Amino acid sequence: MANWSLREPRTHLFALTVLAVAGLLIAIVAGAVIALGVYNIGADAPHTRPVYALIEAVRERSIKVRASRISAPGNLDSPQRIASGAGLYAEMCSGCHLAPGMMPSELSQGLYPQAPELARHYHDDEAEAFWTIKHGVKMTAMPAWGRTHSDELIWDMVAFLRKLPTLSPDTYKTMTEAAPGGHDELMKEGNGMPGMTMPPKAADENPRHDH
Ligand code: HEC
Repeated sequence: MANWSLREPRTHLFALTVLAVAGLLIAIVAGAVIALGVYNIGADAPHTRPVYALIEAVRERSIKVRASRISAPGNLDSPQRIASGAGLYAEMCSGCHLAPGMMPSELSQGLYPQAPELARHYHDDEAEAFWTIKHGVKMTAMPAWGRTHSDELIWDMVAFLRKLPTLSPDTYKTMTEAAPGGHDELMKEGNGMPGMTMPPKAADENPRHDH
């Protein structure tokens, strides 16, 4: 019988060789999977379960750790904040996240991962919502609004998000119409992405935009 004691130098060598060969095999398989284009990156083909679970864990931990250093201002109940957030939401967010009384938009239906309907599934804490809105989420279409908006405006959006699940379609409409900078006219066109209308020239040049 061989002596498989870890103290044996030969055992060490054997274990290292096994690890090296296994590592090499994994690298070759991973390289082949990438090089052969095996993984479908299309947004209309859902991730496999293990990939989805991995991404979800990465996202959750990444946001939690970073948001833990953020503390929300004390005045998120302020009507001014909520009114400002309402206008911003209707203009910039509803195309993907929808709103009370709004049908799914062309944009929202094509997203993968789907943008959660924040009027239904909003259970984030405030710091996490702030961080997500400010920095966005890689490879999901959730933009980093901190590139173009101050922290104060982002807190306004968080203030509105806390109210959103309680709003009826009528209240939502009234609030966003009354809001400073509300873009209700664009909402009425039903293109689903108020504030994101393309300049006519760019739209004409886009061959896929055929309707
Ligand atoms: C182009 C589409 C798009 C737009 C516009 C957009 N979002 Fe998102 N948003 C997403 C997607 C997709 C996710 C899901 C990301 C994920 O699965 O990690 C998301 C996630 C979020 C989350 C995290 C929700 C949760 O419970 O995990 C918040 C909060 C959020 N968005 C707020 C906003 C706000 C506020 C705006 C407007 C200022 C906005 N989003 C505009 C696509 C969008």
